[in-house]
Amino acid sequence: MQSGICRLCKRRTPTGYDGSGMKILLFGKDGQVGWELQRALAPLGSLRALGRADADFAHPETLRAPIAAFGPDVIVNAAAYTAVDKAEGDAATAHRVNALAPGVLAEEAAACGAWLVHYSTDYVFDGAKEGAYVEGDATNPLSVYGRTKCEGEERIRASGARHLILRTSWVFSARGGNFAKTILRLAQERDSLQVVADQHGAPTGADLIADATALALHSLRDAGPAARALSGTYHLAAAGATTWHGYAQHLLAEALARGAELKAGPESVLPVLARDWPAPAARPRNSRLDTHLFEASFGLQMPDWRAHVDRLVAGLASAGRDEAHGAQRIDRVFPSCSPYSHKATQAIIPVPMARGADKQS
Ligand SMILES: NC(=O)c1ccc[n+]([C@@H]2O[C@H](COP(=O)([O-])OP(=O)(O)OC[C@H]3O[C@@H](n4cnc5c(N)ncnc54)[C@H](OP(=O)(O)O)[C@@H]3O)[C@@H](O)[C@H]2O)c1
Repeated sequence: MQSGICRLCKRRTPTGYDGSGMKILLFGKDGQVGWELQRALAPLGSLRALGRADADFAHPETLRAPIAAFGPDVIVNAAAYTAVDKAEGDAATAHRVNALAPGVLAEEAAACGAWLVHYSTDYVFDGAKEGAYVEGDATNPLSVYGRTKCEGEERIRASGARHLILRTSWVFSARGGNFAKTILRLAQERDSLQVVADQHGAPTGADLIADATALALHSLRDAGPAARALSGTYHLAAAGATTWHGYAQHLLAEALARGAELKAGPESVLPVLARDWPAPAARPRNSRLDTHLFEASFGLQMPDWRAHVDRLVAGLASAGRDEAHGAQRIDRVFPSCSPYSHKATQAIIPVPMARGADKQS
């Protein structure tokens, strides 16, 4: 892959790239990040994308066969057990999916000389630090989810595989259930919302995570043998920070600016303390991740969190307009978002309709 002569046009290439592309095996293709990775990784080479039906992380040993059969240059793992509260009562499954399965992927990556890209979380930290967390800060997860994700990281590091462990936070996307979509829907139904105001972090778009991953892989390819020095753990999140309360207010202001009809506007989002809305899993009060190492290593600059949040709202509004033939009603924006299908966290949106819905975001 690094001969410097293009195998197609036979000309010398400025980057040393020989035009053969990467063989990339993606796990978790149907999740928020996995879905965006299908788009962002496609131009890098030959992409094979697997979902739960093709590769069940609850049975980690079964993951070896598809890897050996495909012979990837890069394995990207976007699959995870992300139901944070549910994990408290289902620790064995969360452990298999978040800890044992990534360990198996890493062993296979080491065996075939592939890179492993794996996503982790702000929940490996306890949130007690005052400033933003750097990669070397001590982990101290507060929940089963956080502990299993932390063990997954450790198994990857111990495997000897070249890897990028990318810790991110507060993920949202147009696809799947998340805090942003839940807030927009609830604001159509209720006169006011109570939202946690003492947990801090950066909402990060799945599209941003996927694009940054693709650019990092592009850098690794161009770096040739020197890429090995880039193997490690990085924080990958949008710039800036807010609280869940500030995030909700921003979403509603942006939706109103785009013509949404809401019962609750930004001023109707009432701040509450996390301790007043106990959930099965404890969450860090500070989820801020310092991204300087990722930016410096891969020559990238993380945009402010509002950039991709505003893009999400614009996209949902435009989809709603299309569906409603011009009527700018926000309830037309979410045709598939029923009270029973979304998975936002009860601790973050303390309203009865959100009970039992506990995805990390
Ligand atoms: N969501 C967040 O706020 C957040 C924050 C920080 C870090 N992260 C990390 O970012 C990564 C991506 O998260 P995401 O938001 O994209 O999560 P997501 O939307 O919940 O997607 C997770 C994917 O994992 C798949 N999965 C779950 N159990 C599986 C199993 N037993 N076998 C195979 N596949 C299984 C799911 O399959 P189905 O589609 O079939 O359910 C889903 O496609 C994860 O590593 C997560 O820990 C997420």
